Amino acid sequence: MGVIDEVKQRTDIVDVVGQYVTLTKAGRTFRALCPFHSEKHPSFFVYPEQQSWHCFGACNTGGDVFSFIMKKQGIDFGEALRLLAQRAGVSIPSRFEPEAEGKERQRLYQANEAAALYFHNLLLDSSAGEKARSYVIGRGFSPKTIADFQLGFSPNSWEGLKQYLTDRGYSESELLNAGLIIEAETGKTHDRFRNRLMFPIRDARGHVTGFGARALDDSLPKYINSPQTPIFDKSSSLYGINLAMAAIRQQNLAVIAEGYMDVITAHQNGFHNAVASMGTSVTEKQVSTLKRLTKNITLALDADAAGEEAMLRGVSFENTLGAEVKVIILPRGKDPDDVIKEDAKSWQKLVEEALPVVDYKFNVVTSELDLTTAKGKSAAADELLPIIAEIKDTVRQAHYLQKLAHLLKVSEHSIEAAVTRIRPRQGRGRAEEPKQEVATHLHPLLSSPIEEYCLALLLQHPELKDKHEELSPEYFENSENREIFIAWQRSDKIESLKEELEPATHEHLDSLLTRNLLNTKIEQKYAECVLRLREKSLRSLATKIEAVLALEAQSGGRAADLAKLNEQGIEVNIQLGKVFAQKSQRRLEQRGVRK
Ligand code: CTP
Ligand code: MN
Repeated sequence: MGVIDEVKQRTDIVDVVGQYVTLTKAGRTFRALCPFHSEKHPSFFVYPEQQSWHCFGACNTGGDVFSFIMKKQGIDFGEALRLLAQRAGVSIPSRFEPEAEGKERQRLYQANEAAALYFHNLLLDSSAGEKARSYVIGRGFSPKTIADFQLGFSPNSWEGLKQYLTDRGYSESELLNAGLIIEAETGKTHDRFRNRLMFPIRDARGHVTGFGARALDDSLPKYINSPQTPIFDKSSSLYGINLAMAAIRQQNLAVIAEGYMDVITAHQNGFHNAVASMGTSVTEKQVSTLKRLTKNITLALDADAAGEEAMLRGVSFENTLGAEVKVIILPRGKDPDDVIKEDAKSWQKLVEEALPVVDYKFNVVTSELDLTTAKGKSAAADELLPIIAEIKDTVRQAHYLQKLAHLLKVSEHSIEAAVTRIRPRQGRGRAEEPKQEVATHLHPLLSSPIEEYCLALLLQHPELKDKHEELSPEYFENSENREIFIAWQRSDKIESLKEELEPATHEHLDSLLTRNLLNTKIEQKYAECVLRLREKSLRSLATKIEAVLALEAQSGGRAADLAKLNEQGIEVNIQLGKVFAQKSQRRLEQRGVRK
């Protein structure tokens, strides 16, 4: 998932707008005095379901969370993106930063590489490393494993590494940037990792991006990791990926465990397709990395967290992968490291018997509920239907609908009817809920197929340029698409288009530029597209107006406002009517052509 999508996914427009104005809940919307013009009667609305806003007053315009921030702060898309990313805790990879500092990154990789070697040598044969050596031996790691993973030891010294690396020409600021040293309050800097077992973390290309560091006894914190740096983002890294890549391809399966030790023990015992998410729950970014190697992913989850974790993300990962995600439920209180050490065969068996996430959830529900009672059946449906509704793959979705109908001994028809009633979870993303919960495809702003199709047509067919007056930026509800459209309007060449655009949108732009389109009847397709876009945007506006009208009528709103809204509603309906007329006209024409 791209960084822009991730920001959207972790951002709730209600929270963001709520920071600038006082929102009052009103039915399915929130209302406020418009922050963009002065008014006495609130005509500004936020729609959580669509993740959008609209002002029916003087502005008479609306958009998504990006356009809100852009307008409110008077900044451009890139700046709004950075602001929202920071707020959502999403790091923007530095390759998207203006003037990608290739040189700087190289230096940081090199500093880390030198540090890894420094730690490694100390583990192998320094007297200070004695305790660490017995620790790794105690953990059962072979000399080959220690070498393969380049395990190391950071001495109990404040400046050992700092000295070593400054002697080799690295500046303090580079070392700070790499997260290898820390600045104390006094302004003095010292080594970050002291008296710990060191795990260099490498990316798929083998660069050392950061470190994990384990205490050599029970002292806390057990692990310290590198902070976020220009080259390290823990939540998108996978420990062991450099060593696991080949096996993952070959076995067409990746097993994701939680910890450093799990990966190392797995590899030492011949399970070379293991990687670790490093403590945090698996992220979409990690899944996307693996997707390049295999579609088959198995998550090793500990018994306590399993239900939650698997369901929170599992189906969303499946949608990302376009394939099933399986789960291994570990014996209570054990991690893969424990299981493998005890009995490698039993690990092998767990991997082989891993269940698809949705089946796993079925099992949990079945074991917890009495499905012979009406109450039990309805509770089971409540638990399982929202999950099934998330499955994008229609065949697999149908499979689970059947399975559920069978399980509950009710007709498939009634189950299907129920699933179509399920709408994207509403009002999610409130402050106290983890934001990542939002399933990718349920987010109203994550993708807009018709907007994207239309853009792909425009971008790939310059001959459409003189037809674009029929389109307006307002038709693009998704700010990223809107940005691309506006830049396209302004620039005469694709190359200059890129320069106009925020680098974080380039990925999306590239996917539009390279999308496979059938190169026939382009003008006709484009005309249809424009109509469908207009229809979409008008319908969305109509829905918003209806919501507000219903509200105003209920609360006995002022006649003048009602009349104005009504008028806007009527206008939208007239416009929609025109679109329908044009559509049927086109259909008639096409039939005429075919005859
Ligand atoms: N982790 C972390 N920071 C912590 C604790 C854990 O980053 N303070 C990450 C590490 O990647 C760790 C993983 O979460 O490997 C799993 O944590 P845990 O199960 O506590 O550690 P183990 O890897 O099992 O280590 P050990 O077997 O030595 O206890
Ligand atoms: Mn462990």
